[in-house]
Amino acid sequence: MLKFSTNPNKVVQLDNKKEVFVFDSEDDNLDQVTVDSFGEEWSKFNYFDSGEIEKIGNEYFDIIDFSKFNKDATVLDVGCGTGRWSVYLSSKVSNIYAMDPSKAIYSAANLTNDIPNIHLIKASVENIPYEDNTFDLVISLGVLHHIPDTQKALNSIVKKVKKEGHCLIYLYYALDNRSVAYKMIFYASSFFRYFISKLPSFLKKSTCDIIAILVYMPFIYLSKLVKLLFGRKWGSKIPLSYYSNKSFNVIRNDALDRFGTPLEQRFSKAQIEEMMRKSGLKDITFSEKQPYWHVIGRK
Ligand SMILES: C[S@@+](CC[C@H](N)C(=O)[O-])C[C@H]1O[C@@H](n2cnc3c(N)ncnc32)[C@H](O)[C@@H]1O
Repeated sequence: MLKFSTNPNKVVQLDNKKEVFVFDSEDDNLDQVTVDSFGEEWSKFNYFDSGEIEKIGNEYFDIIDFSKFNKDATVLDVGCGTGRWSVYLSSKVSNIYAMDPSKAIYSAANLTNDIPNIHLIKASVENIPYEDNTFDLVISLGVLHHIPDTQKALNSIVKKVKKEGHCLIYLYYALDNRSVAYKMIFYASSFFRYFISKLPSFLKKSTCDIIAILVYMPFIYLSKLVKLLFGRKWGSKIPLSYYSNKSFNVIRNDALDRFGTPLEQRFSKAQIEEMMRKSGLKDITFSEKQPYWHVIGRK
């Protein structure tokens, strides 16, 4: 286990083998309503099938060549949620420090229970309890766009990357590679998100389930049909085609993520590249594949 730079406020020993190190300092770069909403979300979706973790993980990590990656590497997973990407990495690297400020960290304890090289930390992005220049790889997938000041948060995580180490992030894209029609459908959905994200927890979850069935599924079937009739290229132009090979569990989870989260920002490739350079990263490489945009940089 790595040494902490500050002492935890407490250590929670769970019924299973895991313990959670809790760092509850104030963080002004955190949207509490959003964090609480994720705490709820991840206690509902606290299980992911290992086959699906591997399949979707291969999409996020396609820009890392693990055959060249050092097995002794130490990884920090910022905003880990259920810890599914820490699970993905657990057989590929030495130790993973999975960190989240919400009660999701206790859901992560379930998913990572049998995996001794995953360590659980309850802390937020501005309070990472490790010295600077510590980690070979820092990942933050689907997190920084839910934080008020994304650049500041990125600067904070890049500080923890060792010199020559890497940082992999996934940020919601600004639809910069999409047609006007696609953007219009998408922005119409954002109108609904504004209201749905404000509903009480039970109503929010139920509404998002209905959206998964009545909106996601028809688009997914349409994209499958278009793929069948006109080929993959045209099928992938249909909104939500990304989900055509995903389980219903993942679709429900992402519908809740998309419509239930109060704070969400979107970034173009150019904006992401600029933020990464400002944070001290170079050799910035975007994956051209979905999910957009996931990108890696070297410190
Ligand atoms: C969409 S979830 C992604 C979870 C995980 N990375 C995944 O892809 O499964 C976003 C996560 O970011 C966390 N988060 C929100 N604000 C944060 C902050 N200021 N610092 C660290 N994590 C934060 C939330 O608690 C939530 O678990």
